Amino acid sequence: MMTRYQHVLEQLQTRQYQWLVTGVAGFIGSSLLEALLKLDQKVTGFDNFSTGYRHNLEQTRETVGEKAWLNFRFIEGDIRELESCQAACQNVDYVLHQAALGSVPRSIQDPIRTNESNITGFLNMLVASRNAHVRRFIYAASSSTYGDHPGLPKVESVIGRPLSPYAVTKYVNELYADVFARCYGLESVGLRYFNVFGPRQDPNGAYAAVIPLWVAALIRNKPVYINGDGETSRDFCFIENVIQANFLAALAETPQAVNQIYNVAVNERTSLNQLYGMMRALLLEKFPHLQNHKPDHVDFRAGDVRHSQADISKAALMLGFEPTHRIDEGLRQAMDWYIAHLHVEKTAERA
Ligand SMILES: NC(=O)c1ccc[n+]([C@@H]2O[C@H](COP(=O)([O-])OP(=O)(O)OC[C@H]3O[C@@H](n4cnc5c(N)ncnc54)[C@H](O)[C@@H]3O)[C@@H](O)[C@H]2O)c1
Repeated sequence: MMTRYQHVLEQLQTRQYQWLVTGVAGFIGSSLLEALLKLDQKVTGFDNFSTGYRHNLEQTRETVGEKAWLNFRFIEGDIRELESCQAACQNVDYVLHQAALGSVPRSIQDPIRTNESNITGFLNMLVASRNAHVRRFIYAASSSTYGDHPGLPKVESVIGRPLSPYAVTKYVNELYADVFARCYGLESVGLRYFNVFGPRQDPNGAYAAVIPLWVAALIRNKPVYINGDGETSRDFCFIENVIQANFLAALAETPQAVNQIYNVAVNERTSLNQLYGMMRALLLEKFPHLQNHKPDHVDFRAGDVRHSQADISKAALMLGFEPTHRIDEGLRQAMDWYIAHLHVEKTAERA
């Protein structure tokens, strides 16, 4: 039998919509762009390159080809400016709002800048979407909203107190989206992503996520630091599952499925120690120097939750969400991408 996702993909192949992807030069945004252009959809992209890169757009262009690329229009702009958001929302059917400053440690370092993009910017995008009468506003929420609640697996309706300014901003997004449904009838869906990973996730900078950070260190034979004892665990979610959740949320037909929050993950838990072992094993064949590589344990990191695992039954029931990739399959694809691209980077450095 056809899955709901297969049905949605077929629908998209027969009808062309206008999408707006904010944060399009980032990891998740550029992946959504690639998937949409491959389905012959029209996309407006919006980004200020604060943490995203032109090379992510260039790489997407190479992957989809020149013909599909003609369906893409890019606006360089900042969601902290309402006028730019309004220009981006013109004639848009579906908004996939990904632009935000990610990272818990960054928000602890600089709560004001995080607040500006993640709350003021979010509110601007809601207002602009409402004014433009978009069909639906899908946005990146976060598993950090579960905060200090110890329950596992995480169920959407039970959250704790936020552990970082970032978590506050992502929770405020949910509150604003809910209020915009009540006050203005704006349809929205919030997707609480859990530790997303995949090609193009940034391995560089102080706020890199664990998988790209480690893969870069392993390939370059640099130390890998594990925060705490390594038994901290996460529900690592491959990017393909996130793309699926966005498309299902945008095209969900039952009214009860809309104006809701959904966990987006796999419902599995992997410790940092296990993750290190899996990554090292996948890379070992190409990089024999990893034979004797061992991780270094350092202090626990402030603002981190100890364990995280999603209950995904709500998304399964209401949206028909069925993850296609578990961590091992996702890691294999991600490692192949990093091997190809970090090597290119190395050659370029030498040239
Ligand atoms: N990666 C994860 O594991 C994860 C988990 C939970 C939630 N999220 C959320 O998913 C979204 C995308 O994350 P990502 O991992 O792709 O991060 P990313 O940093 O690669 O992408 C974010 C993009 O938003 C852009 N941006 C930031 N502030 C902006 C502003 N003021 N105006 C315009 N553009 C702006 C950046 O330049 C970047 O291209 C974010 O909202 C993030 O909070 C990500």
